[in-house]
Amino acid sequence: MRRTTIADFQTMKDEGRRIAMLTVYDYASALIAEQAGVPVILVGDSLGMVMQGRDTTLPVRVEDMIYHARMVRQGSHKALIVVDLPFLSYATEQDAVDAARRVMQEGGGQALKLEGGREIVPVVRRLTEMGVPVMGHLGLTPQSQHQIGLRAQAKQVEAARKLLDDARALEEAGAFGIVLEVIPAELAELVSRTLTIPTIGIGAGPGCDGQVQVWHDVLGLFEGKSPRHAHRFAEIGEQMVGALSHYVRQVEEGSFPTQAQSVSMKSDVLASLKAGE
Ligand code: KIV
Repeated sequence: MRRTTIADFQTMKDEGRRIAMLTVYDYASALIAEQAGVPVILVGDSLGMVMQGRDTTLPVRVEDMIYHARMVRQGSHKALIVVDLPFLSYATEQDAVDAARRVMQEGGGQALKLEGGREIVPVVRRLTEMGVPVMGHLGLTPQSQHQIGLRAQAKQVEAARKLLDDARALEEAGAFGIVLEVIPAELAELVSRTLTIPTIGIGAGPGCDGQVQVWHDVLGLFEGKSPRHAHRFAEIGEQMVGALSHYVRQVEEGSFPTQAQSVSMKSDVLASLKAGE
């Protein structure tokens, strides 16, 4: 099967097929996502938190996005690969073109995701005119977290109207899709019905054209509470801890490795060795 294209992405909305998007950050995970049939991968700047252990996405650099996108590209042959442009890497049109060139040429991403509304329209227009597919991101935009906080957005009428206008402006500027993060489900549904391009929700209810989730959240990799918008479809972290403690125990008690994991020497070779020949 060939790789999902931007046209396929639009067709999914047009045909009423919901789109499952998932963050992926490395080669092995990309292979697994491919086996699971994930049609759209996001190399998200959330890698700052889940892969680098930082508190926010702000320290993530273009180089980090390239490094992770390259690994994902090696393991993924069917998914549409969208890569985040990190904090302030698209502050001007020229910055955006430079970052896009690097992420697409060196990282192998097919499309880019940028956070923001009307303020980034000139950048979105410039990139799309240059042949770069751009996905927007509205609502809770983590790159602005020091300004807007990490809470639900657009709950009041003025902010909701602004978000709807921003969504229309992004579509008009050429965006091929928009992520809606942690906004009221009713608003997300209204945006999804208003726009022609697909909306992808995270914490934005079931009325979006698709959903995106973070790898570590859906697989239950981290101990403790998950974000409210996430669902743990498995408890892989617990299984990993179980498997690794089993390994440690077996090494410590000498029950691993066995003959099955070892290479043998012929008895005459061993005898000569011992005899000092
Ligand atoms: O970086 C990311 O993982 C994201 C998703 C949460 C939408 O932007």
